[in-house]
Amino acid sequence: MSSGGDEMKRLRDRATGDLLAPVGPSGAEHLAEGAVLLRGFAAPAQTILLAAIREVVARAPFRHMVTPGGFRMSVAMTNCGALGWVTDRKGYRYDSVDPQNGEPWPRMPDAFLKLARDAASHAGFSDFVPDACLINRYEPGAKLSLHQDKNEVDFGEPIVSVSLGIPAVFLFGGLNRGDKPIRVALTHGDVVVWGGPARLRYHGVTPLEDAQHVLVGRYRLNLTFRRAG
Ligand code: SIN
Ligand code: FE2
Repeated sequence: MSSGGDEMKRLRDRATGDLLAPVGPSGAEHLAEGAVLLRGFAAPAQTILLAAIREVVARAPFRHMVTPGGFRMSVAMTNCGALGWVTDRKGYRYDSVDPQNGEPWPRMPDAFLKLARDAASHAGFSDFVPDACLINRYEPGAKLSLHQDKNEVDFGEPIVSVSLGIPAVFLFGGLNRGDKPIRVALTHGDVVVWGGPARLRYHGVTPLEDAQHVLVGRYRLNLTFRRAG
């Protein structure tokens, strides 16, 4: 039996990344038809994921991209995989090279491919092979406005989104921009998967609260896996 106090402590420990807190897969939470939250699913792979992110970032550093409307994004981004998502004054698109140095994006680490495939399969989408991984870095105050992921060629494949580091509130809306989103608290290791009838749902992230994570520091890192091309 667990008291309310124990539950509060568990949630607090998870949010701060306490290494003694229980981590690991603990079942899928239903968000909408075609959308689930896998709490802690990525936690067992945290060390290898963070090392792989560091390697990608050494070759393709984080940068603040500019929207077609000319606004600098508060989220810093980079990519790995055959295709990388970019935005500038010319628009949003996928590109096979990093516009910052003209080089191909770093290849997708095997640990990323495995995690994305396993998470998608847990959510009911078999044989997911992403060719694009957008890496988002949020600092306190950074946010991502409600948007749809629709620059991909085929909407038959799901989106797999992995949260590492400090907590965030994920907004998960409907198929119309005006639909009221649900608010989902995401912490280190959580994975959200949406596809099928949920594939084009609007989503975003509210401005991050200041916090510190033992492994990631004062950041939230998000990996968004997609089949783009
Ligand atoms: C995204 O929509 O690209 C990222 C969402 C998130 O950071 O959770
Ligand atoms: Fe998105």
